[in-house]
Amino acid sequence: MTLKLLYSVAAICLLATNAPAQEATPPAQDTGPRLTRFSEDPDRFTQTDGEALYRTTCQACHMEDAKGAMGAGAHPPLAGNPKMRSKHFLAGVILTGYHGMPRFGHMMSDEQVASVTNYVRSNFGHDYPDTMTAAEVAGLRPPEDSD
Ligand code: HEC
Repeated sequence: MTLKLLYSVAAICLLATNAPAQEATPPAQDTGPRLTRFSEDPDRFTQTDGEALYRTTCQACHMEDAKGAMGAGAHPPLAGNPKMRSKHFLAGVILTGYHGMPRFGHMMSDEQVASVTNYVRSNFGHDYPDTMTAAEVAGLRPPEDSD
């Protein structure tokens, strides 16, 4: 009985000493960068920058260095992949998906598809001079998918 009381007192003291630490708000930079990686709209990507879109969308499967991964499924590399020569192929895959890859056409605007296409084609060792425009992406969209 006395021991139980002693434990309770000790617990209360512990809680009391810990309280200020628990109330302290973490510095803004702890959560900031991570949160900006997520879209503000759960159904659409809100980032417009090609790199941000790659990081939030493609990287999960094609990896940070775009070299792909073999795991639960085969995720082909984009880096050094000769198919990246065609901006229409790449934008088309993003819009409509590709076998085991989901489509992103309904979650991205024409501008977003163009900027992530251009990002992939000018990074990861690629340096293709021709760029994709939003108008060209619009022309690639399947009719039922128009934005
Ligand atoms: C959920 C996982 C996933 C995400 C996210 C994803 N992909 Fe893919 N991607 C795949 C898989 C799996 C394949 C291979 C499909 C197949 O051939 O069966 C693929 C294939 C591709 C191909 C064709 C490569 C080839 O050699 O045929 C391109 C291009 C591509 N993805 C680009 C992208 C881009 C750009 C993004 C971001 C907008 C992206 N992917 C996001 C899983 C993903």
